[in-house]
Amino acid sequence: MVIRSLAIALVAAAVSMTGTTSAQRQAPQGPTVQVYKSPTCGCCANWVKHLQANGFATRVMELENLSEIKATHNIPGPAQSCHTATVDGYVLEGHVPAADVRRLLNERPAVLGLAVPGMPIGSPGMEVPNVKPQPYNVMSFDRLGQLKVYSSH
Ligand code: CU
Ligand code: CU
Repeated sequence: MVIRSLAIALVAAAVSMTGTTSAQRQAPQGPTVQVYKSPTCGCCANWVKHLQANGFATRVMELENLSEIKATHNIPGPAQSCHTATVDGYVLEGHVPAADVRRLLNERPAVLGLAVPGMPIGSPGMEVPNVKPQPYNVMSFDRLGQLKVYSSH
């Protein structure tokens, strides 16, 4: 009797493990994006939703003051925006589209990261109803603070 109930328990455990595996297949793929934002930033929260909608796992840390994070990650002054994030050894500053993050992680260029300086209307998380999106560039930046156009939108 003990052996039989043990066998049943093992089968149940196997079934529940299978269940977990198939649930994990639906989960976001790839490295988690760690986001640093101020607690009151609405467009930052919208950018996080944009990443999640495009399959990224995210973790958010809310900070009253982001200047230390931006200094730690060598974000050049002219590249700065509302939020800062890290993903798989790279830094993201501002409203960088998920597609550019994917490209960054695939191509792995020798840069510190990508930035969308300022907060251009129409960039992911900065959509404003009835306001025409403005063209903007995603810039790469390096340790010397050099900015280069990575993509144009
Ligand atoms: Cu913003
Ligand atoms: Cu932001």
